[in-house]
Amino acid sequence: LTENRMYQQNEKSPLQVFVRAKKKINDIYGEIEEYVHETTQFINALHSDAEIVDKAERELFESYVYKVAAIREVLQRDHMKVAFFGRTSNGKSSVINAMLREKILPSGIGHTTNCFCQVEGNDGGEAYLMKEGSDEKLNVVNIKQLANALCQEKLSESSLVRIFWPRERCSLLRDDVVFVDSPGVDVSANLDDWIDNHCLNADVFVLVLNAESTMTRAEKQFFHTVSQKLSKPNIFILNNRWDASANEPEFQESVKSQHTERCIDFLTKELKVSNEKEAAERVFFVSARETLQARLEEAKGNPPHLGAIADGFQIRYFEFQDFERKFEECISQSAVKTKFQQHSSRGKSVSGDMRSMLDNIYERITIFRNLKQDQKNLLTERIQGTETQMMQVTREMKMKIHNMVEEVEEKVSKALNE
Ligand code: GTP
Ligand code: MG
Repeated sequence: LTENRMYQQNEKSPLQVFVRAKKKINDIYGEIEEYVHETTQFINALHSDAEIVDKAERELFESYVYKVAAIREVLQRDHMKVAFFGRTSNGKSSVINAMLREKILPSGIGHTTNCFCQVEGNDGGEAYLMKEGSDEKLNVVNIKQLANALCQEKLSESSLVRIFWPRERCSLLRDDVVFVDSPGVDVSANLDDWIDNHCLNADVFVLVLNAESTMTRAEKQFFHTVSQKLSKPNIFILNNRWDASANEPEFQESVKSQHTERCIDFLTKELKVSNEKEAAERVFFVSARETLQARLEEAKGNPPHLGAIADGFQIRYFEFQDFERKFEECISQSAVKTKFQQHSSRGKSVSGDMRSMLDNIYERITIFRNLKQDQKNLLTERIQGTETQMMQVTREMKMKIHNMVEEVEEKVSKALNE
């Protein structure tokens, strides 16, 4: 039943836009690779038989083969990446756990996360972690062991630990979302390194704030630097620990509108990364701890409100789900654009280059043939036969390439439009 529900949720998820686009562009590149291989064989044959294609040209063509293979490799690894930042103990790790519906990352009071932790899906069904600079797989059975493994090592705060978690345990991981957890922005002096090493290819950033206090200078400064280095980053703001507001219901509305106004001003007037309308859709009031508890109850077959920590659970729970939906729409659109647009235009330029190269060869063969026609009496019948055969092969190949280029261009732009 759970499998089935996850499948249905999956089908409706906006993340499917990315998943389908990725499949499509991988298929298109698979075809391009086939064409490139066929054409290479043809060019190599021409090179050895007739000296129509010289060495430089043959090498140039080989470079297309490598280019296409390199793009294919990147494409297969492409994913959607979301990075979480905020002050120590605001609940970054708890938000990720709530989204993953399982307590994967260590969370707790005080300074818990001491280096970058990336959670990504693994096909093999086993959980393990890998430290930066090593490809040793360290098996992880449970959260305690993971926390110990992360604490024991003297890891630098900017280093990265990759946690591979079985895809089938979470639909977000199955759909190729990769989560990056960070230490608090207040504990590091190397924020620039952080951005250069971990943020440049992030599709979405989530600023996790503590709703009990207000946004700090360190948090603001970090995002100022991010938006200088990246053009218009997608930033969501979560006012976490909103369950605390239930203790002071008389101030709840005024605090909420004060936070909302500050967050919107920050995105629009300070960072200038969103307009008013978009910014209003990027600010949420949630409780990560409560959401995770609710989801753990749900997984046991209990009603989610058993996980409630305070009054107003339902509203906070809906708001968390609303955040997730908007986040999914945003990340999948952004990743399709930034990741696949580039590959599509590279694919177009490679197929265009190949086309003009083959046009050139075709022209040369025509000249070569006319020349030979003039010296017909000197040629044996066998050579003529070979030439005609060659002409025919070239013509067929040219047609094939023409068709291929058109087909690929059509597919690429159709995929892009979609
Ligand atoms: P560092 O890794 O140290 O930077 O902290 P973090 O931002 O990852 O915070 P973490 O998720 O470890 O949470 C810190 C503490 O706050 C934990 O004890 C959580 O259980 C608690 N916590 C997180 N979110 C909430 C929430 O929404 N409400 C309440 N009441 N507690 C929360
Ligand atoms: Mg943490």
